[in-house]
Amino acid sequence: MVGINNMKLINGKEISAAVKERAAAEVAKLKEQGIEVCLAVILVGDDPASQVYVGNKKKACEACGMRSLEYRLPADTKQEDLLKLIANLNADKTVNGILCQLPLPKHIDEDTITSAILPEKDVDGFHPVNAGLLLSGKEGFLPCTPAGIMEMLKYENIDCKGKNCVVIGRSNIVGKPAALLMLAADATVTVCHSRTVNLKEAVKAADIIIAAVGRPNFVTADMVKDGAVVIDVGINRLENGKLCGDVDFEAVSTKASAITPVPGGVGPMTIAMLMQNTVIAAKKQNGI
Ligand code: GUN
Repeated sequence: MVGINNMKLINGKEISAAVKERAAAEVAKLKEQGIEVCLAVILVGDDPASQVYVGNKKKACEACGMRSLEYRLPADTKQEDLLKLIANLNADKTVNGILCQLPLPKHIDEDTITSAILPEKDVDGFHPVNAGLLLSGKEGFLPCTPAGIMEMLKYENIDCKGKNCVVIGRSNIVGKPAALLMLAADATVTVCHSRTVNLKEAVKAADIIIAAVGRPNFVTADMVKDGAVVIDVGINRLENGKLCGDVDFEAVSTKASAITPVPGGVGPMTIAMLMQNTVIAAKKQNGI
């Protein structure tokens, strides 16, 4: 899609629909072979945003023709009971993918839970085994949001080879894996974060900017080189209730050659890649 100033608006709704369509076709093919693809989603507590995400994941499963199991557990669930549920789902041959929505209540250790899910069923790509496979450039489950970013760049024929890519943010879920994926795609990668000195100068040198800081309008037009590709991972809720990314979209879009909007950019890609990961899990578990 071409927007103002020949700027390309990268349409996450369109790209995620294409990924989900592909996943649905694979689910249908597997069904013909007697395999029903199934994703189990666990939510502990009543965080409103998490409830929406989990609901959307269930809807996406239905749209792709997958079976979905949903476990909504009270906030005071004991860690050992959550571990028992995960052990049961690990052992259940009819379950291909398992996901425990984060954040978890404070009395539950996220690393313990993430590590309890079998790496073969870890469709979030959060297990240390999958993180290690990504680090060493080997095949494993990729975290859905960074995988979605790479899918968007591929869809738009944006070549990363030799480009300067600046990732802003160093979380385990987005910043770090996005940096590793860009490195694997032959980009020269810089990771900036809250302690970076001269962040503006670093970002200004970027051909591709991936903003994953969680601060509204953090990336301003004076930080962006003319013609840069700008990927905005932020989903920030403003006081007026509006959703806003990490990038000052209005100003930055006059300089960028391509940019993702919020909403309708990276957001919809996360669930689409989850559907893709679950199909990959089902195929692998059935030797396909
Ligand atoms: N919380 C925020 N994003 C995610 C995600 O991609 N997966 C899970 N499990 N929890 C999240």
